[in-house]
Amino acid sequence: MRIERYFDEVAKSAIREALGVDAPAILKPTQDSKHGDYQVNGAMALGKQRKENPRDLATKIAAELVKHPAVAAADVAGPGFVNLRLDEAWIGAELAKNLDDPRDGVTPIEKAERIVVDYSSPNIAKQMHVGHLRSTILGHALVSMLRFVGHHVIGDNHVGDWGTQFGLLIAGLRKFRGGDASGLDIEGLEGIYRQASALSKDDESFANEARAELAKLQSGDAQSHALWQQFVDITRAELDKIYARMGVTFEEWLGESFYDPMLPRVIETVTAANIAREDQGALCIFFHEWAETTGTPAPGRLAKQKEPFIVRKKDGAFLYSTTDIATVMHRHEVLHASRAIYVVDARQALHFEQLFAVAARLGFTMRLEHVGFGTVLDENGKPIKTRDGKAITLASLLDEAEKRALDKLAEMDVELSEEERVRVAKAVGVGAVKYADLRQNRLSDYQFDFDKLIEFRGNSGPYMQYAAARVGSIFRKGGIDEAGFRVPSIALEAPEEKVLARTLLRFADVVHAAAESCQPHLLTDHLYALSRDFSTFIEACQVLKSEGATRDSRLALCALTGRQLRRGLVLLGIEPVERM
Ligand code: ARG
Repeated sequence: MRIERYFDEVAKSAIREALGVDAPAILKPTQDSKHGDYQVNGAMALGKQRKENPRDLATKIAAELVKHPAVAAADVAGPGFVNLRLDEAWIGAELAKNLDDPRDGVTPIEKAERIVVDYSSPNIAKQMHVGHLRSTILGHALVSMLRFVGHHVIGDNHVGDWGTQFGLLIAGLRKFRGGDASGLDIEGLEGIYRQASALSKDDESFANEARAELAKLQSGDAQSHALWQQFVDITRAELDKIYARMGVTFEEWLGESFYDPMLPRVIETVTAANIAREDQGALCIFFHEWAETTGTPAPGRLAKQKEPFIVRKKDGAFLYSTTDIATVMHRHEVLHASRAIYVVDARQALHFEQLFAVAARLGFTMRLEHVGFGTVLDENGKPIKTRDGKAITLASLLDEAEKRALDKLAEMDVELSEEERVRVAKAVGVGAVKYADLRQNRLSDYQFDFDKLIEFRGNSGPYMQYAAARVGSIFRKGGIDEAGFRVPSIALEAPEEKVLARTLLRFADVVHAAAESCQPHLLTDHLYALSRDFSTFIEACQVLKSEGATRDSRLALCALTGRQLRRGLVLLGIEPVERM
C-alpha cells in the first residue's frame, strides 16, 4: 500500500468530519521522528481562508484523526499543525500482509499509460562509450520501474543508423579497402570512419564523394544499401554482446533509418502548419517568428531563439531533427503511446525543447519528456577517457569492474566454488557500475571512481547485494524457509524494530515516486536507508536466538528487508546474489 497517500486520505476525511469541508490535508513526513510520523498542515491554509484560528481548527481535526485505528496519537503543535503518530500494531499488521504479497505491497497505478522509453540509442559503426552507459542503465531501470507500477512500456533503441557517417564510411571503404567489408569488426569500422573523416577535411574531392555516397544510400541504391546493412550487422553483433552482459533487452529497435520513408511527410506537415520556411536553400523552423506567423509565440526561451531547427538541408538531406519529428508521429499514431521518454545526455536539452515545441504545435497531445543526464568525469573532473585519450568503451569498463569484483571476493573468503565466484563477480561488477550511476541525481555530472565502486560498504551496489545475501544466510542458518515465511502480525517493540518497520513501510511510495519522476536515485536512497536500518536492527536485536512471537516478528522484518532489497535491485536492473 502507498502509505503516504493512504494517510493523506485519512487526514482528508478527518478534516471533512471535523469541519464539514473538502480541503487538502497537506500531509508530510515529520522532520524529526520525536514529533511523530506525519505532519498535517491543512489547518493553516483553512484558518486563513475561513478567518479562524488555525489552532482551533487543528484541535478539531486532531480529535477526529485519533479515532482512526491506524493513528496512535494526534497532537496539535505550533500555530496549527497536527502531528500524527502511527499505531505500532497497525504497522505490524500492515507489514505482515506484504509477506504474502507477490508485489511487495506496491499496488499498481490506477491509470496505466502506454509509454515509449527511448534509451541507449548508440550510433552504428561506433562502439558504445561511457556516454551511452548512462542512457542504457537509466533507461533500463526506468523501463522496469514504470512497468512494475503497471504501465505498458515499450523500450525502444533509437540507434543512429542513418546519418552523415555512412557517406564517409562507404566512401572510406571504397577508398581504403576496395569496397570490401569482409572480416571487419567494430574496431575496423571505427578505423575507417576516423581515417575517412580526417581525409574529408583536407581533400575536397573525397568529401564530395562521401556526400554523393550518402545521397546514393538515401535514395535507395541497392549496392550502397548492402554495404550499409553490413555495417549495421557488424555493429549489432557487438551491441548484442554488451546488452547481454548488462541484461538489457528492448521491445523495439527502430533506428533512424526506419523513419526514412516518413520524412517527406514530416516536411509536408511542418510546411502546412506554417512553421517552416526556406532560408539559404534549407528548410528551417524559426521559433522567434512564431508569434508573427502563427499568432502564438513559441514556448519559453524558444520565443527568442534565432537559431533555426533545420529540417532539410540545402542539398536535400534530412537531419536528426527531421527523424525525431517522425518518431513522435510514429509513437503517437502507430504505437498509440500517450507518453514518450527520451533518455539522452542533458547536452541535447535544446534539441528536445525544440522538438517538443514543434510536436505540440503540430497537435500531438502526447506527453513528451527529455530525461537528461550529466557527464561521467574522471578523478580530475574531466570527461572520462582512456590513457591514450580515447573515449572509454563500455566493454572495457565492465571488464575492469568484473576483475576488481573477483579480486575483492577472493580477499573476502566467502564460501563459493570457483565457478560460483566468477558468476557472482559478474553480477557484482556489472551491478556496481549500474548502481554507481543510478544513485546519482541523474542531472549532475559524477566522478567515476573504481576504488569506491567495488567497495562492499556504503551506498553501493555490492553492499546492497551483500545485505540481501545476509538476510538469506540468517534463514539458512536457522533452517527456515525464507520465501514461505508468513506471520499474522509483527510485534514492534525495540526502537530499532520500529525504525526499520517505518522504512519498510515506505517502499510502495518510493517505487511510485521514483518511476513517476524518472529518478531511480529515490529508490537507491531507500535501499541504502533500509540496509542501514537493517544493520542497526541486527546488531541490537537477536533474531535466531530470540524466542516465540519475538523471533517470528524479527524473522518477518528480516524477510521483508530481503524482499525489498532484492526487488529494488531487480527494478534497477541489478542481479541479486544468494551468497557473497
Ligand atoms: N544516437 C543519439 C546519440 O548518440 C541519441 C539518440 C537519442 N534519441 C532520439 N530520439 N533522439 O547522441
